[in-house]
This record gives sequence, C-alpha cells and structure tokens, in this order.
Amino acid sequence: MENRGLKPFRGRSEPFREGTPSYNGRVPFTVRDFQAADFDTLWRIDQACFPAGISYSRAELRLYMRRRASFTLIAVSGEPDAAIAGFIVAEAGARARGHIITIDVIAAARRFGMGSLLLRAAEDRLISAGCRSVELETAVDNAAALLFYKRHGYSVVTTYPRYYSNGVDASVLEKTLV
Ligand SMILES: CC(C)(COP(=O)(O)OP(=O)(O)OC[C@H]1O[C@@H](n2cnc3c(N)ncnc32)[C@H](O)[C@@H]1OP(=O)(O)O)[C@@H](O)C(=O)NCCC(=O)NCCS
Repeated sequence: MENRGLKPFRGRSEPFREGTPSYNGRVPFTVRDFQAADFDTLWRIDQACFPAGISYSRAELRLYMRRRASFTLIAVSGEPDAAIAGFIVAEAGARARGHIITIDVIAAARRFGMGSLLLRAAEDRLISAGCRSVELETAVDNAAALLFYKRHGYSVVTTYPRYYSNGVDASVLEKTLV
C-alpha cells in the first residue's frame, strides 16, 4: 500500500472472473472493474481494514484511484446481493514498474482466496500495461499481509523507517512479473 500518511500517497468493465469455488464456503465471488457508485463502500472497507494513521481519508483514496495510470478492481460476492467484499488499487508506473497501492478484503471474507484473486487480476492488468515488476509497501507489523505477499512470490527489499503517519515502518516488497 502506498504512502499511507506521510506524503499523500499510498473503468471500463472487464469480463467477470470466476473466483475460487466459493467464499463463505458457498457464495461464489467475482472480480469486476470499479464503478463510481462503489466509492463510499470502498472507503468504508478501507477504514475497517486499517488502523487510524494508515487508513486513507476519502480525499487520499480518491487521489490514488484517479492517478493517470491507476486502476481499481472490485471483488463481489455472488447472488443474491452481489455485495462488495474487497478491492485492489494498483498503478502501472514509470520504467515498467507496477505498484500495488492497496488491497482490502473485509474481515468476514478473508482466507477464502479473494485477496489472491484480486492480486492476480491486478498483476495480469499490470503485465498487459507493460510492467515487468511490481512493488508495494506494507506496515512491518502487518504479519498477515507479509505472509500473503510472500505466498504470492513477493520479497522484502528494504524498509522505510517511520513511513506511516502513525510512526510505523514500512517493508518494501517486490516481485518480478515477466
Ligand atoms: C492481506 C489480505 C488482503 C489477504 O486477503 P485474503 O482474501 O484473506 O487472502 P487469501 O485468502 O487469498 O490468502 C492467500 C494466502 O495468503 C496467506 N495469508 C493470508 N492471510 C493470512 C493470515 N491472516 N495469516 C497467515 N497467512 C495468511 C495464506 O498463505 C493464504 O493461503 P491459505 O489461506 O490457503 O493458508 C487481507 O487479510 C486484508 O484485506 N487485510 C487487511 C488489509 C491489508 O492488510 N492489506 C494488505 C496491505 S496493503
């Protein structure tokens, strides 16, 4: 997640992608592109996913989602309500480097493969945009995120001291895409 705090940092429809067979053991989920009406739900999910000082203000989240080369993918549960249960914001940056700005899955939907589905979808999109590698930051005390990213082939390359506005350091992770 990009620069949550210190400096203000941290579309079109694509076909629905099948998730792992289910989440909650019974509700299928899919990934789609962001629509404007989703914004408030995403902000509320971000507030619930991160502590104060790391979660984004509405303005920060909007800023990152609107960056020229950024995109947002949404994970929704299946019928009947098609509720948003997670999202990812990423950016195809300069020098063929992608950046995961944030990935958020609601607590009730975790450990069912939704984060993995979102991450793979974003990596595919970055590759399509010409990225050869991807990087991200996460709080050094976010053990779940560090395990999640390592499971997906990311490696810690450095640490940014006091990166977040609550004073916590960030681990910087990278992965070669192609
Ligand atoms: C990190 C996060 C996105 C993972 O989403 P998820 O849908 O639970 O991830 P998945 O179900 O795809 O997990 C894939 C693998 O990652 C690892 N993993 C994920 N969460 C883990 C946890 N809490 N503890 C240990 N390993 C974990 C496991 O290896 C898992 O595979 P397994 O369930 O078969 O053991 C989610 O926990 C989250 O939104 N957290 C709050 C926001 C956050 O910290 N985002 C990341 C920083 S930007």
